[in-house]
Formats: sequence, structure tokens, C-alpha cells
Amino acid sequence: MLIRSKRGWELPESDATDERIFHSRRNLIKGLASGAVLAASMPVFGKTTENENLNYSFSVPVKNNRYKLDRELTPHKLATTYNNFYEFGSHKQISADAQKLKTHPWMITIDGLVEEKIKINAHELFKHFNFEERVYRFRCVEAWSMALPWIGFPLAELVKMAKPTSDAKYLVMRSFQDPKIASGQRQFWYPWPYLEALTVAEAKNELAFIATGVYGKPIPNQMGAPLRLVVPWKYGFKSIKSIISFTFTKIRPKTFWETIQPAEYGFWANVNPLVSHPRWSQKTERPLGKTTRIKTLLYNGYEEYVAYMYKNLVTENLFR
Ligand code: MTE
Repeated sequence: MLIRSKRGWELPESDATDERIFHSRRNLIKGLASGAVLAASMPVFGKTTENENLNYSFSVPVKNNRYKLDRELTPHKLATTYNNFYEFGSHKQISADAQKLKTHPWMITIDGLVEEKIKINAHELFKHFNFEERVYRFRCVEAWSMALPWIGFPLAELVKMAKPTSDAKYLVMRSFQDPKIASGQRQFWYPWPYLEALTVAEAKNELAFIATGVYGKPIPNQMGAPLRLVVPWKYGFKSIKSIISFTFTKIRPKTFWETIQPAEYGFWANVNPLVSHPRWSQKTERPLGKTTRIKTLLYNGYEEYVAYMYKNLVTENLFR
């Protein structure tokens, strides 16, 4: 199938690690050894030299220590240079190309089954929330993983602001579409724009997070500026980047990867080491920058926070 041959992330991670990653890791790991990196006193937001787009200003994030890590944070350099962002190509080295995305101004629509449709600039939207930093594990379906200090706000806060009606069962999120700057979007066989969804119950779960920053700075383009979803108990493809709309619906949509390959990528995509991908095992994962693999945890280690949502869904395929 044509699509198959174009998809780099269908390949599982092999034990052999990219040489480039090792070399850069050696230099960078020192400063990031333990704990979260954010110091409340850092000038976290504001104009940065890294990217002219990043001039959003938000409230100073408060550190939320409720979610603990059992591993080191991933070195900044690795997380920002090894990315899946198909809008900019079906390989991992898209960070330079992703700088073409203009993230300011950035309009966001909140619509569908809500009391009142909202169309708002990201800049204005962010003023409604209290920002926090939390550290989460991140598990890609390709069997590599990271641990990151995100900055942002709970998705539940956005749901509350949206005031969905009682008919709303799903929250559908879409990314931008601009093939002029996003070369991947000229590949017509992908069902652009990138689309993901959660149940409204999942969107209200305390772990579901909208990240606008990472490593104490605004989120870089390649990681989904100016706002992305982070749902750490699910495979990474659920964490949609550069969101432009939040739509509440009654009907479950077909997501981006589900449309392309439904036998392999489903709606739920909860992490489970005992349910193999049709073409590789999910038992272990390789943390970026490490040579040894570690065991993958059920719900990526977040079972206590999320398992209750799936208890009665016995007929659903929850783990792909
Ligand atoms: N969001 C958009 N818009 N486009 C994408 O291609 N890739 C997904 C997810 N969100 C993707 C996306 C996949 S497959 C993964 S693993 C994560 O982003 C990767 O996030 P990272 O590059 O920050 O590690």
C-alpha cells in the first residue's frame, strides 16, 4: 500500500540507537539530571530569541508535584530534535522546517455542542487559565519514550469554559492546515488536517493537559506550538499538536491515524504492554538517549488516575 511506504513512524524502535542522539546527549544530560527544570523565577514567557513566534505571555506557572517520575527527564536537545509532526515530513528531523509555522496570531475556535461558540486568539484564551508545570512520562506507539516537564493548564478548565451541552460525548481537536508552509500537507494521501478526539469524560480527567510550554519555555514549533494536547496514559499520536479547534460532538469521529490504518491505530490508544501492535511488541520501550530498554507500564503508569473510565467499556478495543 502506498501510504505504508511513506510512514516512518510505523517502524518500531530497534535497540540500536541513533548515533546523533548519543553524541548530543553526552553534552546535555548534565544540566537536566534530576527533577523538573523550571525555576519559578525564570523569565518563562515573553519574547525569546529562539523563535520570534513565541511572544505569548501567561501567568507564571506553579509547580504541580502530584505526578511523579520514575526516571530522568529527557534531555532538552533530544526532545526537540526527534519529533513526529507529519505536517512537516514523515521523518523525525522536522524541527528546522517547523519554524515556518507562524504561531502568532493564532485563532482558536471552540464550537459544536456548546452553549455559545467561542472564537478567540490564543493570546486571549490563555489569560483565562492558571498555568502550572507538571512532569509526565510520554510513550510513543513506536516503542520509544520520554519524560518531560510540561507547562500549561488542565484541559478540564477549557471544557468548563466551553460549557458543553449534555448531548456532548466527544471533544474533537484539529490541527492547522496550510500546505504552503507545511510540505507534508501536500502529500494528498494523508487525511489532513490532523484530527484527534477524546471522550468528554477523558477530556475532564485530571491528567489531560494543554501544553503551551516545556522545559521552562514556550513550547517550540516542532513540539506543537502554540498549544498541544498531552494525554500521558495514551500512545503519543493522541497528543495532537498546534490545535486550532475544539469541537464538542455527539458522534465519535474517525481520527487521523484511524482513517489511514484502522487495523493498527484506534480511537482509544491506551498504553498496554500486554497488547502488541500488529507488527511489534509493546512490552518494552527505549527512553530517548538510553541504550537499555525498560518495561512499559499499563496506562503508562497512570492506572490509578484513569482506569475507572474504562471499566464498563468491555466491547471496546481500548489498547490500540
Ligand atoms: N500532531 C500533529 N498535528 N501532527 C503529527 O504528526 N504526531 C503525533 C503527535 N501529535 C503528530 C501530532 C505523534 S505520532 C507523536 S509520537 C507525538 O505527536 C510526538 O510528539 P513530539 O514530537 O513532541 O515527541
